[in-house]
Amino acid sequence: MSIESVLHENRVFEPSADFVKNANVSGMAAYNQLCAEAAADYEGFWAKLARELLVWNKPFTKTLNQENAPFYKWFEDGELNVSANCLDKHLNTIPNKVAIIFEGDDGATQEVTYKDLYHRVCQFANGLKKLNLNVGDRVIIYLPMGIEAVVAMQACARIGLIHSVVFGGFSAKSLNERIIDAGAKAVITSDGQFRGGKTLPLKSAVDEGIAMGGCEVIEKVVVLKKTGLEIAWNSNNIWWHDLIANVADTCEPVMVNAEHPLFLLYTSGSTGKPKGVQHSSAGYLLHAMNTMRWTFDIHENDVFWCTADVGWITGHSYVTYGPLAMGATQIIFEGIPTYPNAGRFWQMIEKHKVSIFYTAPTAIRSLIKASETTPEVAPKNYNLSSLRLLGSVGEPINPEAWMWYFEQVGGSRCPIADTFWQTETGGHVITPLPGATPLVPGSCTLPFPGIDIDVVDETGKDVPWGTGGLLVIKKPWPSMIRTIYNDPERYKTSYYPVDLGGKIYLAGDGAIRDAKTGNFTIMGRIDDVLNVSGHRLGTMEIESALVANHLVAEAAVVGKPHDVKGESVVAYVVLKGPRPEGDEAKKIVAELREWVGKEIGPIAKPDEIRFGDNLPKTRSGKIMRRLLRTLARGEEITSDISTLDNPAILEQLKEVVK
Ligand code: WTA
Repeated sequence: MSIESVLHENRVFEPSADFVKNANVSGMAAYNQLCAEAAADYEGFWAKLARELLVWNKPFTKTLNQENAPFYKWFEDGELNVSANCLDKHLNTIPNKVAIIFEGDDGATQEVTYKDLYHRVCQFANGLKKLNLNVGDRVIIYLPMGIEAVVAMQACARIGLIHSVVFGGFSAKSLNERIIDAGAKAVITSDGQFRGGKTLPLKSAVDEGIAMGGCEVIEKVVVLKKTGLEIAWNSNNIWWHDLIANVADTCEPVMVNAEHPLFLLYTSGSTGKPKGVQHSSAGYLLHAMNTMRWTFDIHENDVFWCTADVGWITGHSYVTYGPLAMGATQIIFEGIPTYPNAGRFWQMIEKHKVSIFYTAPTAIRSLIKASETTPEVAPKNYNLSSLRLLGSVGEPINPEAWMWYFEQVGGSRCPIADTFWQTETGGHVITPLPGATPLVPGSCTLPFPGIDIDVVDETGKDVPWGTGGLLVIKKPWPSMIRTIYNDPERYKTSYYPVDLGGKIYLAGDGAIRDAKTGNFTIMGRIDDVLNVSGHRLGTMEIESALVANHLVAEAAVVGKPHDVKGESVVAYVVLKGPRPEGDEAKKIVAELREWVGKEIGPIAKPDEIRFGDNLPKTRSGKIMRRLLRTLARGEEITSDISTLDNPAILEQLKEVVK
């Protein structure tokens, strides 16, 4: 996205009077009032919300503990159970309300009420209890999108187990690394999965991952029979259905401390090793709920659909936890947006009368393309009148895509919540509130009430509105990351760097606030993190994967703007042997792409590979990534390259192997 196009954006869309009237946060005055309350009494603001929204078994008396900053504690003497807050709470009020409408890849649907879901979670939790798992033990979940994925996560929460969901698109090697880092005692997986009309294996990656070694702590692998695909069977495997056969379907929730880790979720950072982002129970759930209420304006009769997979943070906060805790009806979809055709999302919105729809810009951009080439699948062929609110997440949405989403999908009547947040923030931190905030295409607008987010310079000093800088959060907030599992030092250096004074959270994105309105525009990552189709990938991770290949001597990876995926991956590779050409080069490109797919997952495969006899380096041996980015974009290098040791390399690196 060009930043200029957003900064010069002067279209403003005010919420309609109707929307404002019924909104949970109604009008800008109400928004400003909430922000003022948080500014006047920060802890009081959050304490009030935590008492209002959460069901406590033992109420908290302390709100925020900053003694061991930046390891903050929220509501630390309170006790509760997250699953009880998502399910048990509703048993007396809305037992027969539909909690989940599941639509399979093949279009078949299943409905689960709150009462059904409660029993399914209890039963599976009782099953897990038979496996020698104790409060605080880690469990890896590697399942396709479906009711069972939610059941597995909720069941862990119910008995105090810490889940770590690994997205099904990650490889055996990635699983292996996560199992080892988390010290997981069990894995929950399925024989296979259905996607886009195909039946794909899943459990085989678990077998392979465990066989790679170091996973001796794994005691059991629970296997859901989903597809009937033939699988290898090991002595520590147990079928999901056998685990719950003749098991009671009620299970006392285990009360845990507010700070008890609810989950670990691995995400990419600026080194080769993914970080296990650790979240709390109470603070995390509080923000998942409150953002459902204020950002998504959730009402009793809404049908909410967040298209994210539970393998990502968006699926944690806005599939597994937020909607259930708020008693909403939600859609869970197993398939992909382009099967059987690219009208699938619109067809499902029509069929299930979805009122709130939350997806990623990359999906929107690919569906724009599809409806240009195949007009039959354009949104205008479907009845989308049930929609009242749209959301966007994961990457910047360019104004062109925003306008299309607004007009073609939302019928120019639905506000768009462009929600900025991260795995580490737990929930939205900058977003419009749909019944209050004037919308500007391409801007995520204003801070969520209570979140003290701003832009500063390299020394941590405020910059004036209209000047770009680093996005930071100045005060701790309840749903923030608590630490990086096994690596508290890295938590401190990544998010609380001393350059900025050690007391403010560094998000890792660049941002600028509009000089007049204070609206935020996100300018992209300032570190070596890429955002490919809304998936977060570290350049160093891909580089480590490449150099682990026997042919490769050296590799450097950069991102390049891509009109559908947001960014694409360009890898510069130096082989141990001579620089390949022609068919030889093509063969090695194919091999290296496959290799990265195996090392990390198909989502990380480089889109382009270029070979050089060397990489452009300074005389001190530092790779000049800035130049590599310029080359990737196909632009001429105009900057000073006099410090470059080997300028001739640049010509070679312009050549893309096709
Ligand atoms: C980017 C996803 C612009 C950003 C919830 C952030 C966004 C990273 C937006 C986190 C948005 C997310 N506008 N950029 N609305 N939302 N990002 O951890 O670079 O997978 O730092 O969390 O995605 O990605 P993550």
